[in-house]
Amino acid sequence: LPYLLAALVFGYLAGSIMFGPIVTRLFGLGDLRTIGSGNVGATNVLRTGRKLPAGLTFLGDALKGTAAVVIAAQWGADTALCAALGAFLGHLFPVWLKFRGGKGTATYIGLLLGLYWPAAFFFAALWLLTAFTTRYSSLSALVASFLSPILFAVVGQWQNAGLFACLTVLLFFRHAANIRRLVRGEESRIGRARS
Ligand code: G3P
Repeated sequence: LPYLLAALVFGYLAGSIMFGPIVTRLFGLGDLRTIGSGNVGATNVLRTGRKLPAGLTFLGDALKGTAAVVIAAQWGADTALCAALGAFLGHLFPVWLKFRGGKGTATYIGLLLGLYWPAAFFFAALWLLTAFTTRYSSLSALVASFLSPILFAVVGQWQNAGLFACLTVLLFFRHAANIRRLVRGEESRIGRARS
């Protein structure tokens, strides 16, 4: 049990490194909270019109999750699962940003990559398919994360299915405002600034 708790805390600390605010500050792009949706993720960094910082934000927020689970996996599979949960909670509720963190999409795919890489490709394919057809980043994340736990169930990976079902619930919860905008037809499309 001490190992599992340590992994949870370690994951939380890794996950709470918020690349959106760090990268936008380094590029001198101002305060993300005052741009677009106000979210700290890569989609909103893209609304500054700059692809490189958006890409770096995505990579950082994804790979911090991958790194956390790969490191924690040295102490066993359960430890890796706890680190994954911690990293996701760290990204969504970072103490450094008064617990107002991101929406979880990049970190979700990074965790998939670290725990079972084929699922990351499955998620990416679904995200890209939805994004290219609808241009909604949020809807793409909702579709891809909804189906990922189902993929784990289909291949019989029950622990991963359970973990990612929890992460999907959290991701949907953090996308509540996006879901309301999607229903009203008011959600912004990828790359276009919302006024
Ligand atoms: O990954 C976040 C995305 O799904 C929504 O971001 O900025 O459009 O609320 P945003």
